[in-house]
Formats: sequence, C-alpha cells, structure tokens
Amino acid sequence: MTKPLDRTILVTSALPYANGSIHLGHLVEYIQTDIWVRFQKQRGAACYYVCADDTHGTPIMLKAGEEGIQPEDLIARVAKEHQADFSAFSIGFDHYHSTHSEENRTYSNLIYKRLRDQGLIESRTIVQAFDPVKEMFLPDRFIRGECPKCGAGNQYGDNCEACGATYSPTELKNPISVVSGKPPVEKESLHYFFDLPTFKDMLDKWIGAGHLQTEVANKMREWLDGDLKQWDISRDAPYFGFEIPDAPGKYFYVWLDAPIGYMASFRALCEKKGLEFDRFWNEGSEAELYHFIGKDIIYFHCLFWPAMLTGAGFRKPSGVFAHGFLTVNGEKMSKSRGTFIKARAYLDHLNPEYLRYYYAAKLGNGVDDIDLNFEDFTQRVNSDLVGKVINIASRCSGFLNKRFDNTLSECCAEPALYQEFITAQASIAECYESREFGKAMRKIMQLADRANQYIDEKKPWVIAKQEGKEQQLHEVCSVGINLFRVLIAYLKPVLPAVSEQAEQFMRCDVLGWPDSFEPLTSHRVSRFKPLLTRVEISAIEGMIAASAENLAPKKIQSKAKSAVGGTAEAAEMIEFADFAKVDLRIARIVKAVPVDGADKLLQLTVDLGGDDRRNIFAGIKSAYRAEQLENKLTVVVANLQPRKMRFGVSEAMVLAAGPGGKEIWLLHPDSGAEPGMKVK
Ligand code: MSP
Ligand code: ZN
Repeated sequence: MTKPLDRTILVTSALPYANGSIHLGHLVEYIQTDIWVRFQKQRGAACYYVCADDTHGTPIMLKAGEEGIQPEDLIARVAKEHQADFSAFSIGFDHYHSTHSEENRTYSNLIYKRLRDQGLIESRTIVQAFDPVKEMFLPDRFIRGECPKCGAGNQYGDNCEACGATYSPTELKNPISVVSGKPPVEKESLHYFFDLPTFKDMLDKWIGAGHLQTEVANKMREWLDGDLKQWDISRDAPYFGFEIPDAPGKYFYVWLDAPIGYMASFRALCEKKGLEFDRFWNEGSEAELYHFIGKDIIYFHCLFWPAMLTGAGFRKPSGVFAHGFLTVNGEKMSKSRGTFIKARAYLDHLNPEYLRYYYAAKLGNGVDDIDLNFEDFTQRVNSDLVGKVINIASRCSGFLNKRFDNTLSECCAEPALYQEFITAQASIAECYESREFGKAMRKIMQLADRANQYIDEKKPWVIAKQEGKEQQLHEVCSVGINLFRVLIAYLKPVLPAVSEQAEQFMRCDVLGWPDSFEPLTSHRVSRFKPLLTRVEISAIEGMIAASAENLAPKKIQSKAKSAVGGTAEAAEMIEFADFAKVDLRIARIVKAVPVDGADKLLQLTVDLGGDDRRNIFAGIKSAYRAEQLENKLTVVVANLQPRKMRFGVSEAMVLAAGPGGKEIWLLHPDSGAEPGMKVK
C-alpha cells in the first residue's frame, strides 16, 4: 500500500436529488463515505471529498410546478436544507455544489462536444408517450397502466411490480399520464444517443482490473454479455436542465450531467483551494478517484460513466464502492409505520454520533442491505460507547481531579499494555481502508474491554482508600486516560464531535493516527464532563411518532355534505396518481368469525382469486352477523401494508359505506363479479 502521506485522493458520494429531504437511508452512504474520508485525512493523505445536489430532470420540474414556484427557487431552498442536515451529521464535505451551476454546464458541454467530435453521438427519431394536456413527453415512471403480461393494474411504464416483466411504456394497456390523469398519445421526436457499445472491450478490461467489488463486477459481466444498447441522452422541452449546445429545444438527460457534477464540484473546490483540476482528472492521473454509491445506481457509474470519461479523454475511477439499502426493524422504510425517518426528525430527538457509530458497526465492504434495529441500536450505543469507551475516562478522571490536580503521572506505568494498544493500529487501519468498519469497531471495542479489565483488576476505588497507595492510584488512573486517548483516536473518523470534546478534556493536540503516539505524562487535563449520554428509548419513540405524524392528512375546511347526509369534514385533496395507487379488488368472504374481546370487530378470511387468501379485521360487527357474510362478495384494498393489531395481522382492508351502526353496506353476491377482479 502507498504510504498515506504520498496519496492524493478525490472522493465523492452520489448527489442527492433536490426534490426531497435527506433521510436515514441516504445517510448510510454519506456517513460511510465521511468515515472513510476522515480516516484518510487523519492518516495524512491529501484527501478531498466533494458532493452536490442533483437538480435537473422532470420530477424536480413538476414538483416546483406543484408548489407554484420556479425550479431555481425549489433547488435553492432544498440546497440549504440538505446542507444543514449534512453538517449536523458532521458530513465533512470539502465542497458542496449544485449540478445547476456554470461549472457543470461547462464540463457537460465539453464532454458532449468531445464525444460528438469523435462520432460517438448519433441522432434519430423515436416515438414516445406524450401528455397532450400538459404538452410534455412522459418519462416511463410517469405513465401507469395494466401490465401487458399479467394484467396487473396500476403498473409503471417500464416494469411490472406484480410479475416482474419489463416492457416499453407503449405496451402498457389502458395507460394514463400521472401528470394529467389522461391517456398519453404517441409522438415522434428527434433524440441524441451516446454510443455505449463502442466501449464494450474497454469496459470488459476495466471490470477485470480490480476496480469493483466482486458482486458488482459479476453483475457488470452479465450486462456486458447481454445486449449493450446506445444510451438516450437527450430530452425534449419542457425540461429543467441544460440545453444541448447544437440542438435548440433539446436538453441533456439528468443522468448525463449528474456524474459530471462530481467534476463541477471539484472544479469549484480547485478555485477555492488553488488545486490543479487536470492533475486529478486527466488520463494517466496519479491521484486516486473513488465514488461511493448505492447499489441502485451501479449501471450509471460502472457503464455509462467510465465510457463517457474515456470517450472524452478523462481518467476513469480508481474504484466504485457500492453499498446496500437501509431497512428499519427488518422492513423497508415505511411512512405509515413511522420508519421513513428524515435526517431532521432524527436530529430533533437523537445525537447524530449514535447513528454514525451504529452504521459503522454494521457496515462491511459488500453490497448487503443493512438493518437499523432500534433495540440493537440502543443496546450497542449504550453498551459500547457509553458503557465501555466513555466509562474509562469517567472511572479515572474523578480521582485525578480530587487527588492529583487533574495532572497525569510522570511516566506511563504500563508500557506493555500501552504498546499493545498502539500495535493494533495496523490492523485497525487495514479495516478502515478496506471499508470493513464493522470489523474495525469490534477490534476497538476489544481494546476498550481490555482497558476496563485493567481498571477492574487494579481497583482504583479500593486503593484510593488505602494508605501509601497514592502513587499507584495516580499511575492506574493515568494509564486509563492514556488508553482512552488511543481509543478516541481510533474512533475519531466515526465520532468527530465526541473526539473533539475528548481532545478538549485531555487538552492534547488534535489527534492524528496513533502509529507513533507517546503517552501523555505530567500533563494537565481538564475537569471531566460526560461526553455522551445513554440512548433513551423515549427519544426513539418520539422520533417514530413524529415521523408517522408527518403523514397524517392535513384537513382542509369544506362545507361539502357527505353522500350519507351528515356534514363531513373533507380530507385533503389527492392527486389522481395517489388514487391510482390503491389496488381495489373484488374478494369473496370465505369465513367470518367474531373476535374475542373486541365488540366491533369481525375476523374475515377473504379469497382474492388464485391462491390469494387474506386475513382481515374489520369493524363491521354492528351491521352484520358473522354468518350473514360468508360467501358474499366485497371490495378490498389489496395493496395495503399489513398491519399488526392486538388480535393478529390484518392483510387488507374491506371497503364499506354508510353512516355507521347497523347501516354499513358491503357488496352483494349477485353482482356478476369474480374474486380478484379489479374495481374501477
Ligand atoms: N441523484 C441520484 C444520484 C446521482 S449521482 C451522479 C440519486 N439520488 S438519490 O437521492 O436517490 O440517492 C442518493 C444516494 O443515496 C444514492 O447512492 C442512493 O443509492 C442512496 N440511497 C437512497 N436511499 C437509500 C436507502 N434507503 N438506503 C441506502 N442508500 C440509499 O440516486
Ligand atoms: Zn405483470
């Protein structure tokens, strides 16, 4: 391995979209990258970390439209919000930029022109879905309809979530535009394509050259062995992005200028710091370049990006590091369960260093998903950080304060033990370097155990009461503080804020990497203040409750009368697209039984056709006797997240209408409907 001091490294994290808030899923990536960068810097490498907001594309344009503001205003607001969140989590970017910037326009144009001049850009007319109401072409994700293969309703324009089929949006049956709710029409348009297949051999070699994780390289092999297509890099107006220099009315597709945003951000850093851009980006550069990304965007970073760079005469990345996705308590983040937690909601309730440590403890260098389990989170933070690490300092500092004027002993009484801590640096560094942060944390915690064991054996609280043991007491506590100092140095990439406070407590220089640390002797420290408190379960509960609350529909005032005669307060208006997400199906009630201990509930078993049987708890007992319902047809919401109730899990919801009491109506059996049929 090159000596840290001789390394020059440029690191990026994927650029978050400017149409949403940072959430705990994003933070897996930014925390992972930040730990790695801090580690490199602590070891003395010239390491730079840049990022930016990804601001272009249809979703951002539409979102600004919904809010009645200009995209520029939206992205300016989100830029502030994102950067406040990142800074609260101590994500130490050297520069944070925007893809809607002059630097990015310059490099996007430059790369495009270089590709074009080498014959790597082609144009041809294609047919695309067009919204005749909004007068815009529709990205696949903005068209919904029935799957051409299995007929499942409400599927995206590019693939079916029910049967997994992939297809083109023109194949969807009964398509509608999510933007206007009207069926799209087909329309021709001239598009520009980047000739990806030209780079097949180059990519083939690159994949084999050790720049990628094994799992990623294998996936890439599959793609390369399949049919590499030319990449459509243009979009028609109206589009929020950069107009293509020689093609008025045509814009670069957001994914073309997004990775170029890494260069743009770095360019701005060069201006700030007087760095030489070309030294980092030119072909043959000796600087290292690493991209940290999520596993969902491997295609863009490992196929298109190296091909674009090569075609335009720039260097390729030294490595692309993909990570997995975050689950919370074993499940996908869910708005209804309150586990879709925004960075801000977390910060309102918990200390960011807890999450940094927890993610570090869970992260390896593969692409496995990582789970945030709140019991595990509480237990690890409390037992490792508070119970092991911080405890060493609090056990020793009291005596130092009371008996030794906060001054450490004249020499280190346990040189061998101290040396053991220093010797561990090589293997801990190796773990950090290879992004095996979980392993690094385990090694550090073993050392913390060792330090606590030493204190347990020496029992300072016993010798403090014995006469003539003054010097021994002084030595034991001083050894403890010195071991604590080494541990804090090892944890510094993960816990920047705690380390800073610890440096203040120890009144020592800013801690570097402990490969040549001498113990502190005859050195005066400050009075100890607790550096970290325990995680309180109530704070976690508060955060989850607040996250779930975010979802509660905002009621709007309405004088409308409800269909059943009473005055009803209307709920917030929803878009057609929201309604289209609800999968309504005919179901046959196979069995209905009362629920012990619940006077309003019936437990229903419903048949949704095929083998699909569901258990439902429905509050309809006041209107129907159980036996009346068996074999009747009703309408259910088939895609409702299962809900755990006191009596069991409810796996769908029956729809009923009526004022309540005895008047609640479900469907009748003679409607000619069949279980599984879609309700329109
Ligand atoms: N804008 C693109 C990236 C362009 S890079 C030139 C994008 N943005 S994103 O906001 O959707 O995601 C930003 C990063 O966060 C991606 O690497 C993505 O994989 C990661 N994550 C987003 N949600 C995540 C989880 N739930 N879990 C882990 N990482 C996640 O993609
Ligand atoms: Zn399907």
